[in-house]
Amino acid sequence: MKTETNVRDEKDRVIIFDTTLRDGEQCPGATMTFEEKLEVAELLDEMGVDVIEAGFPIASQGDFESVQEIARRANNAVICGLARAQPGDIDRCAEAIRPAARGRIHTFIGTSPLHRKYQMDIDEAECLVRVTASVSRARGLTDDVEWSAMDATRTEADFLCRCVEAAIKAGATTVNIPDTVGYAYHDEFGDLIRMLQERVPGADEIIFSTHCHNDLGLAVANSLSGVSAGARQVECAVNGLGERAGNAALEEVVMALHTRADVMSVWTGVDTTLLTRASKLVSRVTAFPVQYNKAIVGRNAFAHESGIHQDGVLKHAGTFEIMTPESVGVKESSLVMGKHSGRHAFREKLKELGYELGDNAFEDAFVRFKALADVKKHVYDEDIEALVDQEIASAQDRIRVTSLTVIAGTGGPQKATITLHIDDKQHMYEAVGDGPVDATFQAIRALVPHEARLALYQVSAVTEGTDAQAEVTVRLEADAKIATGRGSDTDTMVASARAYVSALNKLLAREARRKPETMLAS
Ligand code: KIV
Ligand code: ZN
Repeated sequence: MKTETNVRDEKDRVIIFDTTLRDGEQCPGATMTFEEKLEVAELLDEMGVDVIEAGFPIASQGDFESVQEIARRANNAVICGLARAQPGDIDRCAEAIRPAARGRIHTFIGTSPLHRKYQMDIDEAECLVRVTASVSRARGLTDDVEWSAMDATRTEADFLCRCVEAAIKAGATTVNIPDTVGYAYHDEFGDLIRMLQERVPGADEIIFSTHCHNDLGLAVANSLSGVSAGARQVECAVNGLGERAGNAALEEVVMALHTRADVMSVWTGVDTTLLTRASKLVSRVTAFPVQYNKAIVGRNAFAHESGIHQDGVLKHAGTFEIMTPESVGVKESSLVMGKHSGRHAFREKLKELGYELGDNAFEDAFVRFKALADVKKHVYDEDIEALVDQEIASAQDRIRVTSLTVIAGTGGPQKATITLHIDDKQHMYEAVGDGPVDATFQAIRALVPHEARLALYQVSAVTEGTDAQAEVTVRLEADAKIATGRGSDTDTMVASARAYVSALNKLLAREARRKPETMLAS
């Protein structure tokens, strides 16, 4: 079996269009902050993703600003913004992508009978007028225009052909065929792409794209079927994030094309060794855990438990592994860390994990590492990642957790006594609550009065074992704005307090940018 392709013909290149920051971010609970979107975009760009759909600029000022900043910072990728078939949307999108070296406007309209009638109450003729008008307007503002037929897979074939023809005539350079509701079967989807290529005049001048949702678990299969039929762009999202059951998972599409290059001799420009990092980053910023048995990036994706499998893999990895862990960025750790590890080993480990810290941040991280190694026999890479991520995230924080004592258990009442370092002073408060977490959060709320609502509280273990660090995610919501904070510690309550304070710091920083005299308790 051949696993690599050596001949890289441009016509066989599959453009990887990532929509984690648009379709992905649109799904309930996956909202990301401005800084988090920049971090994700930076990694996608480094990873060799061809097109980054950075957001929907007309949707909010925040979306506009993040698309604009990503456009400013991108080194390689085309930066794309989404726009409905409306002049205001298209103009705003053009403004947002303007700083990009290469920018794209992606405009769409619902073409199916259901969307025409119930979403817009328009007939076929009006729909065609809007396709032409929107694409022409976008082409007047940029040379790279993508047009999407929303709900294409439930659109009458003849009408879809006329829409695609109108979009091509108006100047679309990419035509995207979304399976918006994840309804298509793989053969059906491939046939649809084939039919459009055969019937629509000018089809050979443009790139066909797939955008498959995963409602029936077929998003990746349908995308591959589209590629097999001639599509040369796949729209996907890291960890399969997206509306409802999500989009085709980027890592699965890329690795399927890469691993089975013997089936379809196509290729992508993605550096597959960054897939695991991207998955972890997206999971961290959205607080969406990755399913353990998720293909490519799940914790168990390369774990062999049964005796027969372990025996086989030890004799020859190929017996039960069709791709290597290294090819997707899972590293075999070379340095095992513990309480005897010194500064030099810690610095080497950080380098191995891809961190570069300044002197002060390094010292703070080292102190925390030593404290952790004192209570935990094995300090795994995941422990160090959690610790350093927290150190980086809290570098500018006004509030820090100095100490916490909690009384918990069946007897009640549960109590928390917390000391917070706020600006330059220490403040202490004792609160009673409905459980230790509630008591801790009440105490923080008393010291830093705020209106924010707790929208998410999530606990997971960083590694295995009863001495594992807990990683807590807290999401606070205030004035329709969200802030997500994370905290880790071997004590779940301390991790909870850190996570809450981290989210609060983000809200306060944002508030301070708007009104510099932000209130804090004295
Ligand atoms: O699923 C869909 O149809 C979309 C379009 C906006 C491309 O996300
Ligand atoms: Zn979609």
